[in-house]
Amino acid sequence: MKKTLALLLSVLMLVTLLAACGGDSGTPDTSGDSQQEENAGTPEEPSNDEPEAPAAGGTVGVCIYQFTDAFMTTYRNALQEILESKGYNVTTVDGANDQAKQNEQINTFITQGVDALIINPVMTSAADQIIATVQAAGIPTVLINREPTADQMAVYDKLVYVGCDARQSGTMQGELILDTPNGGDINGDGKVSYIMVQGDPENVDAQYRTEFSVKALTDAGVEVEELNLTRGDWMRERGQEIVANDLAQFGSAVEVVFCNNDDMAIGALQAIQAAGRKVNEDIYLVGVDALDAALEEVKNGNMTGTVLNDANGQATAAVEQMELLLGGKTFAAGEQSVYVDYVKVTPDNVGDFMG
Ligand code: BGC
Repeated sequence: MKKTLALLLSVLMLVTLLAACGGDSGTPDTSGDSQQEENAGTPEEPSNDEPEAPAAGGTVGVCIYQFTDAFMTTYRNALQEILESKGYNVTTVDGANDQAKQNEQINTFITQGVDALIINPVMTSAADQIIATVQAAGIPTVLINREPTADQMAVYDKLVYVGCDARQSGTMQGELILDTPNGGDINGDGKVSYIMVQGDPENVDAQYRTEFSVKALTDAGVEVEELNLTRGDWMRERGQEIVANDLAQFGSAVEVVFCNNDDMAIGALQAIQAAGRKVNEDIYLVGVDALDAALEEVKNGNMTGTVLNDANGQATAAVEQMELLLGGKTFAAGEQSVYVDYVKVTPDNVGDFMG
């Protein structure tokens, strides 16, 4: 009888203890999947206010659209570092620019029972399918870098997007040109003649940067002439090839080279130098990202400027949002995008961004 009582008492104590732990997600969770079990056992609490304290630890699957992308390399390294420093068990996989492959990777992570996913989609057009998959599995998910529409995200309240508003970066690129001594009109013929080296046009960053860089000029009342627009898919070699071809075709008529990102701008610079042209003297060149290589070229006067696409800031925000989701936060429709600001980089302030 005594024994039974003692057993009953210890069961009672254990239950009380477990209940107390369940309410305290500030306790580091190192087991990897207890968060998942906790979530599975807890009824949905659709509350936006007062999310619980973030739960450190646990397993996180990170899907990157393509490891060879220069900017996403900086970004994924930052993510890995931040997550590991907080005690998470992280696996980062390369989608190799193949949506079918990425879908499989997402499914594998789900089967393995990860606590959260951070996904950089290969194709924004695949967002519906990705969201349906993570929703069916009930996995808290942060989408990064390639923004779906608000409507696409609205179907799942444990989903948030972290990125930047690409319109801002396009506008800043245009302003970098407006701020040059001749406002981009090097030959003084009353108009700015440019070539546009575009990223992957499926990606909203490429669409907006292309549109808003030129819009900044036209909004300022400047006449523009587009000599050529070619997709370079964010890659350095494509930037080099495209600009080499355009310079061969249009020669000194090219006053401005807009590149949707820095990696293509570095390629463009190789072509510009090979053609015997000199940036900031007879041609202007701007990019976006503030890759280390581009900062060096801005400093040396070989790029007119770039725009900081804050990989560290975005990685930090992505982890913050992930922890809020893990703590039970849900997102209301129309409030699922978290933006980090871009910053204009010129020879005047480039030192602030160099490590
Ligand atoms: C960056 C590019 C990168 C792309 C990948 C953009 O925000 O500026 O450098 O290639 O994201 O989606």
